[in-house]
Amino acid sequence: MERKLSILMVAAEAHPLAKVGGLADVMGALPQALREQGHDVRLALPYYKSMRDKVGSPEKVRGAELFDIALGDTTYPARAWKTRLPNSKVEVYLIESSDFFDRDGIYVDGATGEPYQDDADRFTFFSRAVLRLVKLTGFDPNIIHCHDHQTGFIPAWVKYPPTSAGLPGGLRTVFTIHNLAYQGDHPREMAYKAGFGEEMLKSGADIELNGRVNMMKAGIAAADTITAVSPTYAKEIQTPEFGHGLEEVLRARSSDLVGILNGADYGVWNPEHDGFIACKFSSRKPHGKQKCKWDLLERLNLNLSPDAPLVGIVSRLVAQKGFDILSDAFDRLMELGLGFVILGLGEKRYHEVLTEAAVRFPGRVSLNLAFDEQLAHQIEAGCDMFLMPSRYEPCGLNQMYSMKYGTIPIVRATGGLADTVIDHEKGDESTGFVFTEYSADALFSAVERAGKVFDDKDAWTGMVRRAMAQDFSWDRAAATYTDVYVETLKKGGADR
Ligand code: ADP
Ligand code: GLC
Repeated sequence: MERKLSILMVAAEAHPLAKVGGLADVMGALPQALREQGHDVRLALPYYKSMRDKVGSPEKVRGAELFDIALGDTTYPARAWKTRLPNSKVEVYLIESSDFFDRDGIYVDGATGEPYQDDADRFTFFSRAVLRLVKLTGFDPNIIHCHDHQTGFIPAWVKYPPTSAGLPGGLRTVFTIHNLAYQGDHPREMAYKAGFGEEMLKSGADIELNGRVNMMKAGIAAADTITAVSPTYAKEIQTPEFGHGLEEVLRARSSDLVGILNGADYGVWNPEHDGFIACKFSSRKPHGKQKCKWDLLERLNLNLSPDAPLVGIVSRLVAQKGFDILSDAFDRLMELGLGFVILGLGEKRYHEVLTEAAVRFPGRVSLNLAFDEQLAHQIEAGCDMFLMPSRYEPCGLNQMYSMKYGTIPIVRATGGLADTVIDHEKGDESTGFVFTEYSADALFSAVERAGKVFDDKDAWTGMVRRAMAQDFSWDRAAATYTDVYVETLKKGGADR
């Protein structure tokens, strides 16, 4: 370890405190992995109401017990608290606000199913409060590492006066893109609320896109270094197909853009000591996996012939994840004799399409429209195959978890899925099934191929063993982030 760095991570989710998707898994693991490299890593999160039971009694943060944050002409009180990420030594700052975070959901109002309409204010408030916390506490990080659009204003505030005033001189920013489709695209008045001057609204300025304010663009344009969550995604987002209108901004910054594959947290996702599953197992003692399958079938009232494969899906039910091609292929897939377990929550149209499909195949399809951490683990453990037919996938974590549980991933070759799963055609190296074209036909052929190999027990067992032996642990990614931080500190940043 050459240099001990001080890093402040800022994000909207972190497992196990607040989770909607993979961002939470990353924030629950990467800070700890960096700590193990010797760095002082702290994490800042909004203090959502749903966290209260999990954090117990947090401590006050001296100097930042209560302070005001202005959004335009309105001032809102903020309180900062300090706790630790459960099961780790990572210190977490929590930003409390009765105006913005004293609600049941994280992004979506559970009662109506609608996203909160004031997210621009919520996350601008949160991000500003985090920067203020740095100033008030005298905590002197080398790097503020921001994640996704909710935190995108921070690099711009750090880069430009007047908001940069009072921040530590050598402070640098890293901005990680987890999902470019969600951008935080807001009306121009947001610039004023966020404390930016008129010049930041000029065409081509860091926070401006198409005459509006774009928080994702702010992060990309203003950060000293940008990372994306897999090498393939880092390339894809520089093209019109995957760039969501930001491809040119990204191309302009390509020399500062690095793709770093996420890791898998084997402290949480490991069949050898997973407390959620019916029977623990490992590649040396693989028999428990069969028990997990029986348990899952029974628990979900499925009647599957003993030699038929069970296919799992755990996913946000959104366009990104390939549910349109899945529903087009669904009836044909069922003719292969397999069973399906689907766990997910998301858009109403996918709830409806999947519900229709499920009722046509009673006893063979289990549809669970819920967020259920325990069932997610049981699906990883009890299924034979795991399907991720994503239209795009920045990294994807479930394919990595699946491999550890000997559940063979069937994935589309995009983003991190392309970087982690090796197709059956590669013989002795293979860990899954990969298809390229985004179509129901290509998806069907991949599952059909998997079905044929499943029937050849020796070939299947060999692939399962190889998949379980894959190592995607976080220490490799943490070492790469360390290199990125060190390089970032060499860059000439803002002159404060
Ligand atoms: P994304 O971040 O795009 O949703 P990832 O594959 O990176 O996709 O991560 C998704 C994470 O969220 C995984 O840990 C997965 O198990 C979890 N997850 C998604 N939907 C559900 C659900 N309905 N219930 C429980 N866990 C879920
Ligand atoms: C995003 C992406 C997913 C990625 C996760 C964590 O939600 O959709 O592919 O794994 O972030 O980086």
